Amino acid sequence: MLETKRLLLRPMKTEDVHHLFELNQDPAVLQWTGDQVSLNIADAQRILSDHVFPQFQQHKMGRFAVLTKDGEWLGWCGLKYFPDSHEVDLGYRFMKKYWGHGYATEAAQACLEYGFEVLKLKKIIARAMPQNLQSIKVLQKLKMNYAGLKNDAHYPGGYVIYEITDEEYSKCKNF
Ligand SMILES: CC(C)(COP(=O)(O)OP(=O)(O)OC[C@H]1O[C@@H](n2cnc3c(N)ncnc32)[C@H](O)[C@@H]1OP(=O)(O)O)[C@@H](O)C(=O)NCCC(=O)NCCS
Repeated sequence: MLETKRLLLRPMKTEDVHHLFELNQDPAVLQWTGDQVSLNIADAQRILSDHVFPQFQQHKMGRFAVLTKDGEWLGWCGLKYFPDSHEVDLGYRFMKKYWGHGYATEAAQACLEYGFEVLKLKKIIARAMPQNLQSIKVLQKLKMNYAGLKNDAHYPGGYVIYEITDEEYSKCKNF
């Protein structure tokens, strides 16, 4: 469990499935993610059981559920290990009604701290479609650095990569 000034970040639980389903039904939320709208609860259950839970079991990281301290479920934010490239990716996705309050930045700062100070990672990357200006703004506020554009069939137009190393993080962690 991670705690920030306004938020609690905890590993996802089975009962988060309904929130996840609702989140992944909103075309505005999915617009720049490359993902399709969830058709049913089973899709959301599969995301949890096939992707989210194994990440925590195998790599001590994953997408955390993000809640206010009043228990409002806002979305998710967290780290994900890519076995093919051995990279660790920072990601976030919030219900539209909670955008624009600084929640993504606050939650992502806690995830960078967890990655570098607890897991002792050397580098964390993030990817965003070039049109996703609000996501890129979050990465810039986190002091992550632009590291190029990649083409990928899953992301029409490709995606930009941002990254931050443990050394860079330790120089700017009190931003
Ligand atoms: C991306 C996302 C997580 C941002 O969440 P959020 O809680 O609104 O983010 P924050 O409030 O911490 O910061 C957003 C910043 O983007 C800025 N912003 C919003 N729309 C923008 C736009 N069109 N162009 C440039 N900046 C924009 C905001 O002003 C804010 O910056 P500021 O604090 O300097 O004012 C949220 O929009 C979301 O869930 N989107 C759908 C899922 C998604 O795209 N995830 C990322 C995939 S890479």
